[in-house]
Amino acid sequence: MKLCFVCLGNICRSPTAEGVMRALVDEAGLAGRIEVDSAGTAAYHVGEPPDRRAQATAAARGVDLSGLRARRFHAGDFAYFDLVLVMDRSNYVDVVDLAPDHAAAARVHLLREFEPERGEDGLEVGDPYYGGPDGFDRVFDQITEACRGLLAHVQQRSAP
Ligand code: 4NP
Repeated sequence: MKLCFVCLGNICRSPTAEGVMRALVDEAGLAGRIEVDSAGTAAYHVGEPPDRRAQATAAARGVDLSGLRARRFHAGDFAYFDLVLVMDRSNYVDVVDLAPDHAAAARVHLLREFEPERGEDGLEVGDPYYGGPDGFDRVFDQITEACRGLLAHVQQRSAP
């Protein structure tokens, strides 16, 4: 099972999701079965490591994002990944636009659809880039909850 997390820049939200999901997958002993990656819909930050604020928030919770580098999502990614998890509706539109067919488009989901207990704040992981440091804590918490739900979903789906 191959998962790709997608946001706009691939420097804040989706690398956080990649790091968190990889940690959960490792913890569950599923590293050989579930592959995790991330990408951005825009090219602004290609080749860059995650935003310092995203790295600091993740590091404080024991997740190291320092080795990740931004890349752009491309249509060919649909041939490789089983599920594409986007952070907001704008990412959803941009990614679905690149899908080669309806079956591929149906494999794109808002990450927070997998959140076990949905709060009042909707289905998006909002962009923290222009906000303060609290935004990064909120994003980390939303992503962690949703990734726990996603892991449960993937485990059910790939059970023998
Ligand atoms: P991300 O955050 O999509 O979570 O990586 C952003 C990063 C950069 C920009 C916007 C959002 N930007 O406009 O450069």
